[in-house]
Amino acid sequence: MTPAPIAVALDAPDLETAARWAGLVTPHVSTVKVGLELYLRYGPDVIASVRGASGVQVFLDLKLHDIPNTVAGATRAVARLRPAILTVHAAGGPAMIRAAVESAPHTKIAAVTILTSLSEADLAGIGMSGPADDVVRRLAALAVGAGATALVCSPHEVSAVREEVGPDITLITPGVRPAGAATQDQARVATPEQALADGADLLVIGRPITGSADPGATAAAIAASLRRTIPS
Ligand code: C5P
Repeated sequence: MTPAPIAVALDAPDLETAARWAGLVTPHVSTVKVGLELYLRYGPDVIASVRGASGVQVFLDLKLHDIPNTVAGATRAVARLRPAILTVHAAGGPAMIRAAVESAPHTKIAAVTILTSLSEADLAGIGMSGPADDVVRRLAALAVGAGATALVCSPHEVSAVREEVGPDITLITPGVRPAGAATQDQARVATPEQALADGADLLVIGRPITGSADPGATAAAIAASLRRTIPS
């Protein structure tokens, strides 16, 4: 059975826990996501540990943002680990995004539009005026124009972004919660079925899976529910 288009966020306190979660969910999901905290604590070893023998795709969520030359070097440094996906900030600008794309030919560079933690007042404060949706669309178009082949956006923006960038760009959405699950600190959430129906290609789900009593069974249940609602 094809694994479901889910990236499980391995936001674990230590390497052993991250590797254990990865092993439990891997038969059911396509991807596991390693974030900044785990990578800074354990370095490149974390990639081999979570990949294990399974060959699951690794999404390295480092959200790079620096001058193009530095991002090119940083991207080359992690490209040898062969992550399937690496994130950069779209606000780093087209030259920076292009530097990442050219430095990792075997990795999909995903541009983060705006952090969902920023309010419109925050955006105005950093000089990004206008409705958040407009800023997201503008950054999405800029990133794709610079060669990004994936974008990270909230499930509430995914249909507008899809309209902006067309069918060939991979849209990745965090803030996904199965019906009935606790929202935790995610303010604007959607169910996995809704996010896919709106045009998302890969759903980032963390605590509803990793915080459950049986992460493997929870991942399997969400994957089965997606298969029922959206047959491949
Ligand atoms: O546990 P939860 O499902 O909320 O995890 C979501 C993951 O997606 C976390 O790793 C979080 O850092 C990440 N993320 C997010 N919102 C963004 C970008 C990334 O929640 N805008």
